[in-house]
Amino acid sequence: MVRAFCLRHVICITAALAAAGERAHGTPVKILHIVGARPNFMKMAPIIAALKKRPGIQQILVHTGQHYDAKMSDVFFQDLGMPDPDVHLGVGSGSHAQQTAKIMVEIEPVLLREKPDIVLVAGDVNSTIGVALVAAKLGIAVGHVESGLRSRDWTMPEEVNRVLTDRLSDLLFTPSRDGDENLAKEGIDPLRVHFVGNVMIDSLRAALPRAKESQIHQRLELTKGNYALATLHRPANVDEPAALQRLLSVLSEIASSLPVVFPIHPRTRARLPQGFAPAGLKLIDPLGYLDFLALTSQARLVMTDSGGIQEETTALSVPCLTMRENTERPVTVEVGTNQLVGTDPARVIPAAREVLAGRARKGAIPELWDGHAAERIADVLQGWRR
Ligand code: UD1
Repeated sequence: MVRAFCLRHVICITAALAAAGERAHGTPVKILHIVGARPNFMKMAPIIAALKKRPGIQQILVHTGQHYDAKMSDVFFQDLGMPDPDVHLGVGSGSHAQQTAKIMVEIEPVLLREKPDIVLVAGDVNSTIGVALVAAKLGIAVGHVESGLRSRDWTMPEEVNRVLTDRLSDLLFTPSRDGDENLAKEGIDPLRVHFVGNVMIDSLRAALPRAKESQIHQRLELTKGNYALATLHRPANVDEPAALQRLLSVLSEIASSLPVVFPIHPRTRARLPQGFAPAGLKLIDPLGYLDFLALTSQARLVMTDSGGIQEETTALSVPCLTMRENTERPVTVEVGTNQLVGTDPARVIPAAREVLAGRARKGAIPELWDGHAAERIADVLQGWRR
């Protein structure tokens, strides 16, 4: 019995070594990228571009269709210069169980057919965990971009997705040192962890010159440097009418002294009270990447509950108030321009007034948020052997 196990083990190891050796001698590495929801696009675009320049790497792009509106998805492919997806799973909306299950059922035959060496997933959305789980069970290596972030708030669906995806991943790409520390505390082998910096900032830097050409300020009749930009979509902030009402009252109050632009996420749009249209508040549809970046870069203040926007404001040195009690991106608070202000109007409004009075906290740019994170990821992927 013991001998049979040992023999099988030796055969497996020999086969794995042979496969690795074969790849080392020129077999292309096949990488399958997963995108699904809005924040995935700007993380994957620079990696696809970086890998395109590397010989011997074959890429396949799969869109799960978690986000499907032109304004939540298609416009990002144009703005970020991403190739069209090779495969579209078309899963759409549903409860968490329905959405994640649909993603899993639809991706399995694609992985069996394509047999990638690595599946690359990004961030913390349902597409991330759904695909990582299927790939891991098929014995396909998983690479996680934006690994190691932790809010320590287990009521956030994204936190569940982050922790479980990291547990399933073979290659963990962290955007900041706190990510490495979190993973070490969870017992993840440090040899799997690669501190590469922030790929979102690669996209931001590459797009800034084109964002400067955006006509969004004229279209919305805004003066650069003299408006606030707001976004809200976290379930904890918008699903409960009383919680949403409190934050809308904050935005109305700020809008009484300064124009506030509020591009509304579909989740929030569906829950807005009828007839909500306070003076000074510009309620608009979700924007494309370049227009949104143009607005962020010239805002006097950004108020948000998003994850990515905390990072973008830090990279742009724009003051940001995050209307949450915690953040999985502490480096934006410790190093950058972000402040966690919670959701109580008695705390948020005075914090906004401080910023508008010119007393915003000054920030610096975190380590390796330098526009070259995707190249570092490509280096690791190119040299990777299982
Ligand atoms: C998802 C992610 C969240 C991310 C956010 C960015 C999960 C668990 N959450 O949240 O981490 O910050 O994306 O946007 O994956 N809808 C549309 N059109 C679309 C997409 C969604 O109308 O193109 C509607 C859906 O029908 C649903 C609601 O918006 O009612 C929420 O969409 P969903 O994908 O469930 O989660 P998000 O709130 O977008």
